[in-house]
Amino acid sequence: MELTSVKSTFDVTAIRKDFPVLSEMPYGKPLVYFDNAATSQKPQVVIDALVNYYSHYNANVHRGVHFLSQKASDAFDVVREKVRGFINASTEREIIFVRGTTEGVNLVAATYGRKNIQKGDTILVSAMEHHSNIVPWQMLCEEKGARLNVIPMNENGELVLDSLEDLLNDNCKFVAVSHTANSLGTINPIKEIIAKAHSKNIPVLVDGAQAVAHDEVDVQDLDCDFFVFSAHKMLGPTGIGALYGKLSLLEEMPPYHGGGEMIKSVSFKGTTWNEVPYKFEAGTPNIADVIAMGAAIDYWNSFDRAAAHQQEIDLLNYCTSKLADIPSVRIIGTAKHKAAVISFIVDKANAMDVGMFLDTKGIAVRTGQHCAEPVMDWFGIPGTIRASFMFYNTMEEVDYFIEQIKKAIQLLAV
Ligand code: ALA
Repeated sequence: MELTSVKSTFDVTAIRKDFPVLSEMPYGKPLVYFDNAATSQKPQVVIDALVNYYSHYNANVHRGVHFLSQKASDAFDVVREKVRGFINASTEREIIFVRGTTEGVNLVAATYGRKNIQKGDTILVSAMEHHSNIVPWQMLCEEKGARLNVIPMNENGELVLDSLEDLLNDNCKFVAVSHTANSLGTINPIKEIIAKAHSKNIPVLVDGAQAVAHDEVDVQDLDCDFFVFSAHKMLGPTGIGALYGKLSLLEEMPPYHGGGEMIKSVSFKGTTWNEVPYKFEAGTPNIADVIAMGAAIDYWNSFDRAAAHQQEIDLLNYCTSKLADIPSVRIIGTAKHKAAVISFIVDKANAMDVGMFLDTKGIAVRTGQHCAEPVMDWFGIPGTIRASFMFYNTMEEVDYFIEQIKKAIQLLAV
């Protein structure tokens, strides 16, 4: 397939001005940032939200009668509603602030999981999960004498659902599956998986880390029971994210961490829990980053998301076709439904060496296993080079990337 550079109607030049880091010049070369699946860059409004909080109203929340504390509490509290709107939860009480996707999964495993999973039960994950949606469930299985089952995938990196009915048997008590695979870019048919699991009354957690920045997510439409994501992959800061849970489930779950804020009353005889969501938010929260996550959501709401999405699809298609034209390149993950992530290997060249060569040219990609070792094992490879795009990337950057990949092949694939 030969595609010429696509002219997009999306005003990338204007958008790029919102992201100061995109003007950086590593080694004197313009930065080409193709590591967005690891973390996205931050618009100035997000950076300003952090600086503004620390410069002008740094104070603890929900604990002070003074001016700064009131101001911080107000700025903090409105973000829960913004997150609710961002994923269309039915009430902001269903939104719990966590450190990120990993903590969200661990929270559900340690609370819902510990309460409900018994010896002999199975928990179902997919073959393309990130480690953070495997290991917490393995730890729970080990503690409870339960077992992990896996939805298989095919050579395109697509889930094979033929065995799903069997896997959702009477022993299966929980399903945890990624919306979009970080290592391959595959967008999974999670709505179908959720519907099938629900027909057997099995709850489903969706790892939305790679999805929220690329697809509009509607948790009510998906009907998932839990949904987890990190702010830093959707233009917000690191160290903050959200867990969505259906209110009826959250109400029944025991708390996660003990401490301040999560309690109603404490005595040496015993303690009662605060209401949801505070029951799951012990200690001083990550105030600055919550406020900045709110700024990131405001930013998303300020432009045409459909056009941004189309820009990413154009980048994906263009770069895929250019890479496919290079004989020594093999793309790993060729699913029909993909996000703007391209994993690939180069014959006779080590992925890390290619990544280091690209780095000297100002190009940032991720190399290795991408925290998805079982995926690499499935394909029988040690790792891949991964280019992952965001709407602020350009076709010209793709052209430069392809040019440098060809140079890397000449130098390294010998
Ligand atoms: N999960 C992140 C990635 O895919 C760090 O790179």
